[in-house]
Amino acid sequence: MPGREIDFCPRRRKAHHGRRWWAAVGYRVWQVIQGMWPWDTTEEVREAAQWLSPPALSLWQQQPRRDRRHSLRVLRTLQRWGQTHPALMQAALLHDVGKSLARIRLWHRAVWVLVQAVNEGWAERLAHPEGWRFPFWVLAEHPRLGAALAQQAGCDPDAVWLIAHHQDVAVTEHPSRQQWLACLQAADELC
Ligand SMILES: [Fe+2]
Ligand SMILES: [Fe+2]
Repeated sequence: MPGREIDFCPRRRKAHHGRRWWAAVGYRVWQVIQGMWPWDTTEEVREAAQWLSPPALSLWQQQPRRDRRHSLRVLRTLQRWGQTHPALMQAALLHDVGKSLARIRLWHRAVWVLVQAVNEGWAERLAHPEGWRFPFWVLAEHPRLGAALAQQAGCDPDAVWLIAHHQDVAVTEHPSRQQWLACLQAADELC
């Protein structure tokens, strides 16, 4: 793991759970608006294909357009910070791929963000693997689900680990990977 590639990475502004609720909601609304903009599919796919094997690329393409756009913004942000390691680039593109396992509507995302902001315990109760609450369960579990998908697609083990932990506030294992994780989380919050 080349240390020189992780020398520069802005610190996370705040832990995810410490953000004010209106900042979290405003950020999600902005993401949705960005996702509605038209884009050059061929160019974007070519950009993702630079870092992903064919099975991983088809996984990336399973994501809704909104999530594909978000993943590319995370990728470009990391590149602006001087990051080029393939594992981190793969994680940038696929960190939210677990969300593609459910048909997650805009209202699911809005309710999930609001409930999480108001009470973490309510969010845990809302997430259930069966019935109408399944999309909320997928939202809650998407790091673990996405890591399993990335592993099946043959992604780098470091990328799989980063995807699995990209929403964890405190990670104590694998200290050498934590700087990459901090970069991924900082870019994810910005994008
Ligand atoms: Fe995520
Ligand atoms: Fe994300």
